[in-house]
Amino acid sequence: MNIKTIIEPFKIKMVEPIHMNTLSERVELLKKAHYNPFMLQSQDVIIDLLTDSGTSAMSSAQWGAMMEGDESYAGSKSWQKMEHVIYNLTGYKYIIPTHQGRAAERIIYGYLGGKGKCFISNTHFDTTRANIEYSGAEAIDIVIPEGKMPFFEHPFKGNMDVVELERLIQEKGAENIGAVILTVTNNSGGGQPVSMKNTKEVSLICKKYNVCFLIDACRIAENSYFIKHREAEYKNKTYIEIAQEMFSYSDGCTMSAKKDALVNMGGFLAVNNKIIADECMNLLIITEGYVTYGGLSGRDMEAIAVGLEEIFHNDYLTYRIKSTEYLGKKLNEMGVPVVLPIGGHAVYVDAKTLYPQISVDQYPGHSLVCELYLKGGIRSVEIGSLMFGKYDEEGKLIPANMELVRLAIPRRVYTQSHIDYVVEIFEEIIKTKHNVKGYKINYEPKFLRHFTSHLEPLN
Ligand code: F0G
Repeated sequence: MNIKTIIEPFKIKMVEPIHMNTLSERVELLKKAHYNPFMLQSQDVIIDLLTDSGTSAMSSAQWGAMMEGDESYAGSKSWQKMEHVIYNLTGYKYIIPTHQGRAAERIIYGYLGGKGKCFISNTHFDTTRANIEYSGAEAIDIVIPEGKMPFFEHPFKGNMDVVELERLIQEKGAENIGAVILTVTNNSGGGQPVSMKNTKEVSLICKKYNVCFLIDACRIAENSYFIKHREAEYKNKTYIEIAQEMFSYSDGCTMSAKKDALVNMGGFLAVNNKIIADECMNLLIITEGYVTYGGLSGRDMEAIAVGLEEIFHNDYLTYRIKSTEYLGKKLNEMGVPVVLPIGGHAVYVDAKTLYPQISVDQYPGHSLVCELYLKGGIRSVEIGSLMFGKYDEEGKLIPANMELVRLAIPRRVYTQSHIDYVVEIFEEIIKTKHNVKGYKINYEPKFLRHFTSHLEPLN
C-alpha cells in the first residue's frame, strides 16, 4: 500500500473557533498594529505560526491529569510525578522546576556566568545569550560552517564545530569557560538537529578540559527523531533511549517545557553537580518559588509529567516531523526559497532570495511577514535585520546574516487543511512577489525592537 496522507494521530474533542476576516479588514488591522504583527490581537489572526512555544494543544490525558494537581506548597505529589519523569528521561541527580525556559537560564547562567566567563554553543537561543550577557559573560556561537549555508543539505546542520571548540577552550583558558551548551534542535540555526556523534565529541572535549557541558533540551524529542532516521547506529533504538543517551553525555540541561513537553507553561533545569544545584536552588527560592514547584502550579506539573512521555510516542513524532516537512517540501517545490533540509518545528523562508528587489535596510523578511498576514491572515515572525540588525556609528544598518521568516508549527493544533491553506497563500505570494515593496521603521525601542517597533510600507 502506498499511503501518502499523513493523518493527524488524534481526534479532536474540543475546538476553538477561528474568526475569518477579510482582506479589507486585515489592511486596517495591520495599519492599526503599526505594521507590526506582534501588535495584532490573536483573534485577528487566522493561522498563527508566530511560535511553537506554549502553543501546543494538550491531550485528554494531560487535561485529566490536571484535575489531580496537588497544590501543596511543599512536597506536592504533582512535583514528585514531574521529577520522576524527568529523572527517568535525563538521569540527572538534581532537578529544579521553573516557570519557563528563560527562568532556568537566568538561574544557572546567573551562577555560572559573570565578567570574564565565556560560554560556547552551536547557537545560543536569544534568551540564553541575553541571560549570559546580562551576567557580564561572553556568548560565542560555533555551529559547523554547513549550518550557515541555507540551501546546503547536511543531515546534522545543528552540529558544533569541535575543532573550533577545542581551540576556543585553549585560547580562553578552561577555567574561564562558564559552560559549553548544545542547543537541540538548533532553533536559531533553522531548527536543525545535532547528531549523537557530535554530542559525544563535544562531551569528550569538555571532559578532557574539565568544562561543564549542558544541553538546551527544548526540542530533544524532535532531535531524537532525526538521530533515529539519519544516524545508522540508532535506527533500532527508541526515541526515548536516544534522548537518554544524549543526556548521559552531559552534566545537566535547561528545558523550556513549552516545546517538547507539550504544555502551555513550564520549564526546568537539572544537573549532576551538588554545588551548582545548591546555588541554583537558593536563587530559585528567592526568585521563582520553593524547590517543589518553582513558579509552577501543581496542575502545570501534572501536565508536564504526562506531556514529556507523550512526546516520545512513535506516531506523534512521525506525524510531527513529517507534517512540518510536508509544508516545507510543498513550498520548496513551488519555488519558495526555504532553508534545507526542513527542520523539526518550523519552516524558514529566505526572504532576501524571494524579494531581490528589496534591500536589507528595507527589511525583506518583514515584507513577507506583512504579505502573509494581508493575503491570508497568517502570522509569522521575521528572523533577520529587523530582529537582529544593529547600527554603526553613522547610523547605518549593520544587517543580520540572513533575512529569514519562520513559520513555526504549534504542536497538534492545525490540521493538514490549515497547512494546505498556507500553501495556497504562498501561491499568491509567488505570483505577486515582483510588486512587493520594503518597509521603514518609524519608531523603535532600545532593546528587542522587533516586538514593539512601528513600521510603514514604502512606496
Ligand atoms: N531555548 C530555546 C532553544 C528556545 O527556543 C527558547 C524559546 C528558549 C530557550 C526559552 O524558553 O520561552 O520558555 O523562556 N523559544 C521560543 C521560540 C520563544 O519562539 O522559539 P522560554
